[in-house]
Amino acid sequence: APDIDVKAVKADLDQLQSIADANGGNRAHGKAGYKASVDFIKGKLDKAGFTTQIQEFDNNGAKGYNVIADWPGGDEGKTVMAGAHLDSVDAGPGINDDGSGSAGILEVALAVAKSGLKPAKHLRFAWFGDEEDGMVGSRAYVDKLGADKSKIDSYLNFDMIGSPNPGYFVYDDDSRLEKVFKDWFATKKIATEKETEGDGRSDHASFKDAGIPVGGLFSGADYIKTQQQAKNWGGEAGKAFDACYHQSCDTSKNLDEKALDINTDAIAHAIWQLSS
Ligand code: PHE
Ligand code: CA
Ligand code: ZN
Ligand code: ZN
Ligand code: ZN
Repeated sequence: APDIDVKAVKADLDQLQSIADANGGNRAHGKAGYKASVDFIKGKLDKAGFTTQIQEFDNNGAKGYNVIADWPGGDEGKTVMAGAHLDSVDAGPGINDDGSGSAGILEVALAVAKSGLKPAKHLRFAWFGDEEDGMVGSRAYVDKLGADKSKIDSYLNFDMIGSPNPGYFVYDDDSRLEKVFKDWFATKKIATEKETEGDGRSDHASFKDAGIPVGGLFSGADYIKTQQQAKNWGGEAGKAFDACYHQSCDTSKNLDEKALDINTDAIAHAIWQLSS
């Protein structure tokens, strides 16, 4: 897999920050900043040659939107998916939560296009709406799949991958998918832990509940980093992984560039390996 340039990921996050700034400070479900985020992501994918769809749903009296992007080719009976949620909470711009995952999978998707990848399995990327009201967009997506559920080989979720005081957590829901990430981090000599803070708390739950194998990465939210974790990963013990979680200060400054870089490169590795 190619190395993903973290500068490109950060440039996308600057765009999402600008979108929030221009729309009352957030990118929340039902607000103008959400739709502007959808248009931004879709525009880049269309230009790169993806087949994109906007899937609409309703919640709390407002329309929500999922962006679904398919890379033409590969066995659609074995579809590998990567997803992130594109909405923020009302309180702020949601740059780590979950601009980071949204920009990370966007740059991996663009790298797939740039390299002209011809994977054996089909590749699909998804940006879900309204995760923050209870994974509403991803549930709508999985519900609509119906019998096509069996065609999803695996779903990888990336919700918060650039936390400013980062940890390196790997979802332990499926051992095959967990191993793809664990082995990659081992080659980089970076310690990982099993992800437990997020169980059932992001879009992978919608897929897992439907019996689809899920995996993913997470750099921590409002749990506190221990002494041992600070020894392994650096950063500050006794402080949250992301002290700005769900707050107005979750801005384009609320990131650890190294974590964002490593996690995005790990996504590329997993996509290349799992789709081959
Ligand atoms: N889903 C949570 C949110 O968006 C964040 C989270 C992700 C928490 C993964 C734990 C694990 O607020
Ligand atoms: Ca990189
Ligand atoms: Zn959140
Ligand atoms: Zn989130
Ligand atoms: Zn877990």
